[in-house]
Amino acid sequence: MSDAPQPRGGFATRIGFVLAAAGSAVGLGNIWKFPYITGEYGGGAFVLVYLFCIALVGLPLMYAELIIGRRGGSDVLGSLRKLTQSSGPAGAAVSYAVGGMAVASGFLILSFYAVVAGWAVYYALAYAGLFPLEAGGDMFGSLYGKNKSLPWHTFFMVLSVGVVAAGVNGGIERACKVLMPMLAAILGILLVYVGVTGGLSESFTFLFKPDFDRLLRAEDGGLKPDAILEALGHAFFTLSLGMGAMVTYGSYLKSEVAVVRDGIIVAILDTVIALVAGLVIFAVVFSHEGAEPGAGPGLVFVTLPGLFADMPGGQVFGFAFFVLLVFAAWSSAISLLEVVVAFLVDSLKLDRKMAALGAGFAIWGLGIWPARSTSALDLLDNITTKYMLPLGGLGIAIAAGWLLTKEDREAGFRALGPIGDVLAKGWTVIIRFVTPVLVALVILNKLGVLGGE
Ligand code: PFF
Repeated sequence: MSDAPQPRGGFATRIGFVLAAAGSAVGLGNIWKFPYITGEYGGGAFVLVYLFCIALVGLPLMYAELIIGRRGGSDVLGSLRKLTQSSGPAGAAVSYAVGGMAVASGFLILSFYAVVAGWAVYYALAYAGLFPLEAGGDMFGSLYGKNKSLPWHTFFMVLSVGVVAAGVNGGIERACKVLMPMLAAILGILLVYVGVTGGLSESFTFLFKPDFDRLLRAEDGGLKPDAILEALGHAFFTLSLGMGAMVTYGSYLKSEVAVVRDGIIVAILDTVIALVAGLVIFAVVFSHEGAEPGAGPGLVFVTLPGLFADMPGGQVFGFAFFVLLVFAAWSSAISLLEVVVAFLVDSLKLDRKMAALGAGFAIWGLGIWPARSTSALDLLDNITTKYMLPLGGLGIAIAAGWLLTKEDREAGFRALGPIGDVLAKGWTVIIRFVTPVLVALVILNKLGVLGGE
C-alpha cells in the first residue's frame, strides 16, 4: 500500500448532509427525553427557556463545531489539532483534552443509548404482533435492567455498525435520506391521529402557555433554579453538541457556504420535531382522565402504552410511534459511532470497516452493563449528559473563540456577504464570552457549587 492519503469520502449532496445532521440531532432526546423533562418541569415555561438556550448556546456552538470540522477536515481530535497549531501548547492541550473526551463521550453515550433504543425495537415488534402486548408497566418491567433486553440491544448495535461500516456517503447519507423523510411522515400521521382522537388543544396549552411559578417553585414552595440548567444541558444533548458529532459531520462537508445556513436549518428541524413529538405525546396523555404528564422516564415506555390500549386503532398508533422512536434513535446512534470510527480511521489510520466493527463490538460489550443494571444506565447517562457534554461544549467554545485564527473562525460567514461580517462579529462575542459563562454555570451547578443538585 502506498502512503498517499486515502480519499476520506464525504456527503455527496447538501440535502444529504442536512438530513444526516438532522438525523443525528433528532433522536431519543426529542421523542423520549424532551417530553418527559418538559412534563416534569410543568410545560410551557420550560419550553420557553429551552428555546432560549437553543438560540443562545446551541446555535453558536453548532456553527463552532461545523466550522472546526469543515476547516480541519479530519476527526474531532485531528481537526482541533490542525486548527489550534498556531496557539502552541495551549492549543495542543485543549485539542487532546476536548478531542479525547469527545471520543470517550461517543463511546459511553452509545453504550446506553443502544439499550434504550433496543427497548423501542422490542415495543415496535410487540405492537406489530410478534410478542404479546402486556400492560405498559409489565412490558417495561420485563426489559428494564433485565437480560431480556440484550437481544434487542444487540440487534440495534448491528444496525448501527452496518450503516457506519458502509461509509459516509454509502452508509450514513443513504440511510438518513430514507429514515428522515419517513420519520417526518410518521410524525405527521400521528399528529393527524391525535387531532382526531382529542387532547390536542390541552397539549398545546401545556407546551406553549408559560407558567413560571410552576417552573421555578418546587412542591414545597422552594425555588427550583436547576430547571433552567436542565434546559441548557438538554440543548446540548438534543443538538448533538459537545462531543464532536457536528465536527465530524462538518469535516465531510464539501463547501463552506452551507455551514451557517444548514446549521440553522438543523437546529430548527430538531426543535420543530421535539415540539411536535411533545404535542402528540401530551395529547394522548390529556385525552385520558387522570393521566399524568410528569411521569418521568417511564412516560413513553409505561404511561403511553397504557393509554394506547384503549384508544381506537391504538395498536397501529403504538406501532407507528415506536417505529418512529427506532428510526430517530438509529440515525443518532450512527453519528455517535461515527465520532469514534472517524477518530480510529483519521487519527489512528485504521480501516473503516475494521474500525466500525471493533468500536461497535466494544461499545456493545460495555452496553451489557447498562442493559442489565438500571443504576449503571443512570450513571452513564448522568456522567455523559450532565458533565462530559457541557465540558466538551466549553472546550469547543474556548477553542473556537480563542484558539482558532480569525481566518478559520470566520470562514463560514464570509460566503454570506456584508451581513456575514455583522454575524461573524456577533458570533465571536457570544462564543468567547456568553457561551462559556453559561456553560460554566451549568457545570458548577451540577457540581453543587451553586446549590443545585
Ligand atoms: N441528539 C441525540 C438525541 O437528541 O437523541 C443524541 C446525541 C446524538 C447526542 C449524537 C450527542 C451526539 F453526538
